[in-house]
Amino acid sequence: MPMNLVHRRLCSSEKWARAVEDRLLPWVLDGVPLGPDALEIGPGYGATTRVLLRREGLARLSVVEVDAEYAARLRREFGDRAKGGVGGGAEVEVVHGDGTALPWPDGRFDSVACFTMLHHVPSPARQDALFAEAHRVLRPGGVFAGCDSLSNWRWRLIHWGDTCVPVPPATLETRLRAAGFTEVAVEVGTGSFRFRAVRAVPVG
Ligand SMILES: C[S@@+](CC[C@H](N)C(=O)[O-])C[C@H]1O[C@@H](n2cnc3c(N)ncnc32)[C@H](O)[C@@H]1O
Repeated sequence: MPMNLVHRRLCSSEKWARAVEDRLLPWVLDGVPLGPDALEIGPGYGATTRVLLRREGLARLSVVEVDAEYAARLRREFGDRAKGGVGGGAEVEVVHGDGTALPWPDGRFDSVACFTMLHHVPSPARQDALFAEAHRVLRPGGVFAGCDSLSNWRWRLIHWGDTCVPVPPATLETRLRAAGFTEVAVEVGTGSFRFRAVRAVPVG
């Protein structure tokens, strides 16, 4: 099970939406150039998607969600934007799919982001496959940015019965470099860590 009932309630709550908007995303995306064409992996109930959509300069946001029910829900919320952008703002494409096998061509996006979702990817090997896919779909010079939770007993309790494979932040730089990224930065904060990495521009 990706998320248990307590966890689903948390992720869909006003409290989480406020924390994402006021604290988490401003910290994770500080100084990150998303560019006009961005991808979000693992949007869940859309709290992070709504904040991304308010970012200056974003023309198109694609989101890929592995859970069919959440993907359908996101399509209902953002569907009108897909038909041409209700009230202006970025156009949204909602895809039911897996971040470890992305359905877009190489070099498609200016940026790829994922927030508080890596621990739901069921093994370190699958997490590494997601990093490799993020790298593949980025254009040279494009940025991969995101965050995930730090593991502690309370957090583990909330994830009782969930798919939950924490990412130790100390391992992340090596793993992102192995996926092909350069300019990797990982920073531990309160309850979460953030990271950013760049797909290198070929020389010559
Ligand atoms: C804890 S929620 C976070 C949602 C949102 N990013 C937020 O912060 O509110 C994690 C989401 O990632 C999704 N997810 C897990 N593995 C995934 C994968 N391999 N590809 C795409 N989405 C995935 C889950 O279904 C869930 O909706």
